[in-house]
Amino acid sequence: ATITWKPEGHPDIVAEVCDGRTLMEAALTHSVPGIFGDCGGALACATCHVVVAEEWLAATGRPGPDEDEVLDMVEAGRRPNSRLSCQIRAHSDLDGLILHVPVSLP
Ligand code: FES
Repeated sequence: ATITWKPEGHPDIVAEVCDGRTLMEAALTHSVPGIFGDCGGALACATCHVVVAEEWLAATGRPGPDEDEVLDMVEAGRRPNSRLSCQIRAHSDLDGLILHVPVSLP
Protein backbone atom coordinates (compact mmCIF):
# COMPACT_ATOMS: atom_id res chain seq x y z
CA ALA A 1 0.00 0.00 0.00
CA THR A 2 1.18 3.54 -0.64
CA ILE A 3 1.25 5.46 2.64
CA THR A 4 1.75 9.20 3.06
CA TRP A 5 3.00 10.66 6.34
CA LYS A 6 2.59 14.38 6.90
CA PRO A 7 4.87 15.33 9.77
CA GLU A 8 4.13 18.82 11.12
CA GLY A 9 6.72 21.28 9.87
CA HIS A 10 8.45 18.73 7.62
CA PRO A 11 7.96 17.62 4.01
CA ASP A 12 5.57 14.75 3.32
CA ILE A 13 7.03 11.27 3.16
CA VAL A 14 5.45 8.84 0.72
CA ALA A 15 6.40 5.17 0.78
CA GLU A 16 5.27 1.81 -0.52
CA VAL A 17 4.70 -0.50 2.46
CA CYS A 18 4.38 -4.29 2.18
CA ASP A 19 1.16 -5.90 3.40
CA GLY A 20 1.32 -6.96 7.02
CA ARG A 21 4.03 -4.51 8.03
CA THR A 22 3.09 -2.13 10.83
CA LEU A 23 3.03 1.54 9.93
CA MET A 24 5.30 2.25 12.91
CA GLU A 25 8.02 -0.03 11.46
CA ALA A 26 7.58 1.49 8.03
CA ALA A 27 7.84 5.01 9.47
CA LEU A 28 11.15 4.13 11.15
CA THR A 29 12.50 2.70 7.91
CA HIS A 30 11.66 5.95 6.16
CA SER A 31 12.83 8.21 9.02
CA VAL A 32 9.48 9.93 9.52
CA PRO A 33 10.03 12.80 11.98
CA GLY A 34 8.04 12.42 15.20
CA ILE A 35 7.75 8.62 15.05
CA PHE A 36 10.08 6.72 17.40
CA GLY A 37 8.45 3.40 18.25
CA ASP A 38 10.37 3.21 21.52
CA CYS A 39 8.62 0.09 22.80
CA GLY A 40 8.91 -1.82 19.54
CA GLY A 41 5.17 -2.06 19.04
CA ALA A 42 4.26 -3.40 22.49
CA LEU A 43 1.59 -0.78 23.20
CA ALA A 44 3.67 0.76 25.94
CA CYS A 45 5.16 4.04 24.71
CA ALA A 46 2.78 6.02 22.48
CA THR A 47 5.79 7.35 20.50
CA CYS A 48 4.26 5.99 17.29
CA HIS A 49 1.28 8.38 17.50
CA VAL A 50 -0.38 9.42 14.24
CA VAL A 51 -3.59 11.24 13.40
CA VAL A 52 -5.57 9.52 10.65
CA ALA A 53 -6.92 11.81 7.91
CA GLU A 54 -10.69 12.10 8.30
CA GLU A 55 -11.52 10.32 5.03
CA TRP A 56 -9.49 7.27 6.12
CA LEU A 57 -11.11 6.69 9.48
CA ALA A 58 -13.50 4.04 8.21
CA ALA A 59 -10.67 2.05 6.60
CA THR A 60 -8.32 2.16 9.58
CA GLY A 61 -10.98 1.45 12.19
CA ARG A 62 -10.98 2.42 15.84
CA PRO A 63 -8.41 1.77 18.55
CA GLY A 64 -8.97 -1.29 20.73
CA PRO A 65 -9.34 -0.86 24.52
CA ASP A 66 -5.60 -1.30 25.29
CA GLU A 67 -4.58 1.07 22.54
CA ASP A 68 -7.17 3.53 23.78
CA GLU A 69 -5.56 3.59 27.22
CA VAL A 70 -2.04 4.13 25.85
CA LEU A 71 -3.28 6.89 23.53
CA ASP A 72 -4.12 8.92 26.60
CA MET A 73 -0.32 9.22 27.19
CA VAL A 74 0.56 10.80 23.85
CA GLU A 75 2.87 13.75 24.32
CA ALA A 76 1.61 15.86 21.45
CA GLY A 77 -1.96 15.62 22.74
CA ARG A 78 -4.56 13.13 21.72
CA ARG A 79 -6.96 14.09 18.90
CA PRO A 80 -10.25 12.47 17.91
CA ASN A 81 -8.54 10.58 15.05
CA SER A 82 -5.44 9.59 16.99
CA ARG A 83 -4.04 6.07 16.57
CA LEU A 84 -0.89 4.23 17.48
CA SER A 85 0.73 3.32 14.19
CA CYS A 86 2.23 0.10 15.62
CA GLN A 87 -1.36 -1.16 15.73
CA ILE A 88 -2.09 -0.50 12.06
CA ARG A 89 -0.80 -2.95 9.48
CA ALA A 90 -0.43 -2.14 5.81
CA HIS A 91 -3.14 -3.73 3.67
CA SER A 92 -4.46 -3.13 0.18
CA ASP A 93 -7.53 -1.39 1.66
CA LEU A 94 -5.19 1.26 3.05
CA ASP A 95 -3.63 2.11 -0.31
CA GLY A 96 -3.41 5.92 -0.37
CA LEU A 97 -3.69 6.32 3.41
CA ILE A 98 -2.74 9.71 4.80
CA LEU A 99 -1.37 10.03 8.33
CA HIS A 100 -0.68 13.34 10.04
CA VAL A 101 2.20 13.25 12.50
CA PRO A 102 2.21 15.74 15.36
CA VAL A 103 5.86 16.52 16.08
CA SER A 104 6.58 17.43 19.71
CA LEU A 105 9.06 20.23 20.18
CA PRO A 106 12.20 19.29 22.13
FE1 FES B 1 5.16 1.84 21.40
FE2 FES B 1 3.43 1.86 19.34
S1 FES B 1 5.56 1.61 19.28
S2 FES B 1 3.00 2.05 21.46
